Amino acid sequence: MLNKFSRPKIVSVGAGNVGATFAQYCAEMELGDILLLDIVEGLPQGKALDLMQAGVVRGYSVSIQGSNDFSDMKDADIIVISAGFPRKPGMSRLDLLEKNGKIIANICEYIKQFAPHAIVIVITNPLDIMVQLAFHLLNYPPSKMMGMAGCLDSARMCSFIAEELQVSQKQVNAMVLGSHGDLMVPVPEYTTVAGISVKELIPQERLEQIIDRTRKGGAEIVALLKTGSAYYAPAASSARMVQAILRDEKALLPCAVYAQGEYGISGVFVGLPCILGAQGVEKIVELPLTDENKVLLMKSVEEVKQGVQSLKELGFEIS
Ligand code: LAC
Repeated sequence: MLNKFSRPKIVSVGAGNVGATFAQYCAEMELGDILLLDIVEGLPQGKALDLMQAGVVRGYSVSIQGSNDFSDMKDADIIVISAGFPRKPGMSRLDLLEKNGKIIANICEYIKQFAPHAIVIVITNPLDIMVQLAFHLLNYPPSKMMGMAGCLDSARMCSFIAEELQVSQKQVNAMVLGSHGDLMVPVPEYTTVAGISVKELIPQERLEQIIDRTRKGGAEIVALLKTGSAYYAPAASSARMVQAILRDEKALLPCAVYAQGEYGISGVFVGLPCILGAQGVEKIVELPLTDENKVLLMKSVEEVKQGVQSLKELGFEIS
């Protein structure tokens, strides 16, 4: 007799380094059955087979499949989009605007047709603008659409702080808000080590250097790799968001979400702290910010708005 499974269906659109590593982390946590979709023939199928076989040794048992047929996304519970061009040395995330905008627009056509109820997480850069484009094209409720960046930027800040203090990474909690770009807003007021404010542990000047390194964390890795951008931490951060949603954790995580008046911001996606659960973005959490961070957050919002405007000028349908 054949077994029937009723596990959530996770679709990774893009089977490159980020998409495949994301699938690996989801499989390791047995979050659901996973479909890798990519336009490159053989790539998603080959990686899916490899990941399935790895599961025998690693001890996970979920279905992982690969396909070039985007109609296979049918009945997806959650879709994570990493498809697109990565940054090369010297490029800013904004340099990818037009090329990746076209890719996102294509993918949205398939989502509309085959999986219009799925929760969608965008990773493709320039992140905040790509998620806004997808939101506009899909005409989605804001709770079901989000971008992954705050988790990644916060993880980078945690790692740098742990290294600085020579403490376990697991004891550090950081909060990075704003856009996923040079104007992101690391918030030391909400960054702690075992509950102790980082401001008690690291002198201000050194903390500023860590904040600066966090802002440039993606570029640091691009410069080292030379042929592409980071993927382990971006994939892990996306899997963390999927875990929070599929397990209805109500986890407080910074994500790119659609602000509707929170923090005095409206009608734009930007990194804010939110509660992720089964409904997606269940709440945006408003925290007091210092005057300086309020100004920085607004600069970040302006950066996203300018990106959206540039996309409009390139002929994209977006508001
Ligand atoms: C980074 C890319 C994924 O920050 O934006 O590494």
